[in-house]
Amino acid sequence: MPRTRRPGPGRTAQGPTLPQLAVQALSSTRRGYDLLAPAFDRTSYRTPAAVLDATFDALRPHGPFRTGLDLCCGTGAGIGVLRGLCTDRVTGLDFSSGMLAVARTAHPPTRTGPRLHFVRGDARALPLAPAFDLAVSFGAFGHFLPAERPGLFAQVHRVLRPGGRFVFPVAAPPPVGSRPYWQLWGFDTAMRVRNALWRPRFTMYYRTFRLPDVLRDLEAAGFAVELAALEPLGRRADGSPRCRLVTAHRR
Ligand SMILES: C[S@@+](CC[C@H](N)C(=O)[O-])C[C@H]1O[C@@H](n2cnc3c(N)ncnc32)[C@H](O)[C@@H]1O
Repeated sequence: MPRTRRPGPGRTAQGPTLPQLAVQALSSTRRGYDLLAPAFDRTSYRTPAAVLDATFDALRPHGPFRTGLDLCCGTGAGIGVLRGLCTDRVTGLDFSSGMLAVARTAHPPTRTGPRLHFVRGDARALPLAPAFDLAVSFGAFGHFLPAERPGLFAQVHRVLRPGGRFVFPVAAPPPVGSRPYWQLWGFDTAMRVRNALWRPRFTMYYRTFRLPDVLRDLEAAGFAVELAALEPLGRRADGSPRCRLVTAHRR
């Protein structure tokens, strides 16, 4: 999900230095996250607690769920959400072993609550059986090109049990012409130039995950889709929600 907190894309006062971010940005997406993993939780790329809490509160009336999947779990932001909602098992999946190592440390096994599993794998070819009642994903869709989305959604559909749901927040895009609009536009343009000139690619675009296209791709993958405002995250001056929760039901 696009986040634009100062002091610049991805940086916080205690986060990685610019040279560290530059080395990361010249790596592949997976290797870049391996390098960033130890500092990731101090960057603005980690999903903020307010978004996680609002998602948890929106899902709680529909639970408990037996089994949950955090797709592209990174250091485990969504694992905390799922632990409070699922009774039997929670799985975090990511393709970066560095991010998974941090997630395992942040979420050690406990005597109570659901069992935790961390799986290294690519979300575009999920190495998982159809065993999930709930799948969530936070802050990762910019890593998938629009052409990859139908395949990604088909994978999630396959690993959900009938009646299962795939849930994720989507922030409203910044108003056209606003400062955040130009920041994201600038980031995506720089990324396109970088990927035209440099291998391996680092896939990360802010402006390619457009809600109408996403809803169309979810429906094409066989989901029935519902949208709700995440009210705790507030509304914009024009009254529209700052963030919506997409719930895609496996029919
Ligand atoms: C911005 S981080 C978000 C992490 C976490 N969900 C959060 O909200 O803090 C994106 C994560 O997606 C993972 N990722 C990107 N592409 C992936 C793919 N094709 N398969 C699995 N994981 C992927 C990266 O390794 C990284 O951990």
